[in-house]
Amino acid sequence: MTKTRDLIVLLDFGAQYSQLIARRVRAEHVYCEIVPYNMPAEQIAAMDPSGIIFSGGPASVLDDDSPRCDDRIFDLGIPILGICYGMQLMAHMLRGKVEIPQQREYGSVEVEVLSEGQLLEGIQGRLQTWMSHTLQVSQPPQGFQILARSEHCDCAVFENQARHCYGLQFHPEVTHTPRGREIFHNFLFKICGCRGDWQMQSYASEAIASIRQQVGDKQVLLGLSGGVDSSVVAALLHRAVGDQLTAVFVNHGLMRKDEPEEIEAVFRPLLGGKLIMVDASQRFLQKLAGITDPETKRKIIGSEFIEVFAQTARSLGHLDFLAQGTIYPDVVESSSATGMVIKSHHNVGGLPQDLPFCGIVEPLRPLFKDEVRQLGAELGLPEHIIWRPPFPGPGLAIRIIGDVTEDKLVIVRESDAILREEIVASGLGRQASQYFTILSGLRSVGVMGDERSYDYTVVIRAVNTDDFMTADWVRIPYDILDKIARRIVNEVRHVNRVVYDITSKPPASIEWE
Ligand code: XMP
Repeated sequence: MTKTRDLIVLLDFGAQYSQLIARRVRAEHVYCEIVPYNMPAEQIAAMDPSGIIFSGGPASVLDDDSPRCDDRIFDLGIPILGICYGMQLMAHMLRGKVEIPQQREYGSVEVEVLSEGQLLEGIQGRLQTWMSHTLQVSQPPQGFQILARSEHCDCAVFENQARHCYGLQFHPEVTHTPRGREIFHNFLFKICGCRGDWQMQSYASEAIASIRQQVGDKQVLLGLSGGVDSSVVAALLHRAVGDQLTAVFVNHGLMRKDEPEEIEAVFRPLLGGKLIMVDASQRFLQKLAGITDPETKRKIIGSEFIEVFAQTARSLGHLDFLAQGTIYPDVVESSSATGMVIKSHHNVGGLPQDLPFCGIVEPLRPLFKDEVRQLGAELGLPEHIIWRPPFPGPGLAIRIIGDVTEDKLVIVRESDAILREEIVASGLGRQASQYFTILSGLRSVGVMGDERSYDYTVVIRAVNTDDFMTADWVRIPYDILDKIARRIVNEVRHVNRVVYDITSKPPASIEWE
């Protein structure tokens, strides 16, 4: 029977790369879902996957308490690809031998292809790969053929076509394995018979149909922040349920220049009177007066935000569903060797219990950030919303060192607007993951005209990062830095010095507070 759609189930054994594997698969237009490593075989079979991938993981298969999958998975007749720990586990469970090698392989390792088999079809000779393992398969299980070896590992790739089992000691998902994509391609299309027809367009129509089914004729409330996730949810919900959607935008007065206006310009035509803009700036400023500790600022902003949102929700009368822009990385946290840790994630920071919602609508739950952007484009959202760099919930308050005042907000807002304008004009916009200015608490002596000044120092921060856990500073060309600095001191009052932060993360963080 032909499947209605391709699905690859990824068993997560705690690898730091599980999400990356899922992204690689989805990049081939095959839908991939990460599930806990110990999911029972019948539950996996019921999902009707075209293939199964075992992720890597930090444990040792030689330890009795290391994570194991249900051994009946091997009898389902569904192709399985084991990566690193996943390959070792496959070998161990099918009675091959796994041992601690004489010499560990870590980093870039060259592998020699002995036979293409199915998994390495089209790949011959030497293959650049990336390895990170403390154990290796020293003897494959019966019926397995070795396809490749490296200097210190006699079995770097194996397969057993009759049993539909395949294993890679190296990581095909990382960019340091340049031909990894071809290997995934072989597994997905030649071995699992996938069609590769998972498209954002089909995701959008499926999501719209399922929102309609969930919501029926009921009312939905969405907290719109202007960030890409909540904006895409707004566009999607509007398509699905039209004016049953009410979106609330709380302006805490800590937004970037023109941001509330830009959000209104995009969503007013779509939502009309169902877009509620709440200006709570003064309320937030009063609460923040005199507060200098960053964490206290965050707490005040978080709780005020919930309070304002909840008050607004109550004032709107009866609403049935709450919509949220939760995305896949918020849901799956795969850093734990004991399997999946589910983070409960609330974009609005957890709402008071007394708000009587009968359910939550989270249509972006299965998507990665880049997929959310694709969906946004599919729904016709403008580029500046789709490509908006991340902006922290507490906004400019954590970009002002020390207490927050209206005057300081003007300085950081205006300098930030100049920086953004020049970065976009110079074509660096898409290359930098995040860029902004900070108003340091530092004041120093300067000369303006013939007069001595004693004014603030503005800091420029621009970073590149994949995951925001680590980051490097962007090498902005000197002439662009020069133009930005000149414009800031000339156009923003009370700034007489501009510096560029050239620290990576770690040891520094991206934000200054
Ligand atoms: P750090 O400063 O921790 O920032 O290196 C990493 C990423 O997280 C964002 N960030 C926040 N986002 N609330 C948020 O919603 C916060 O309190 C917060 N603090 C940092 C930061 O902008 C960067 O993208």
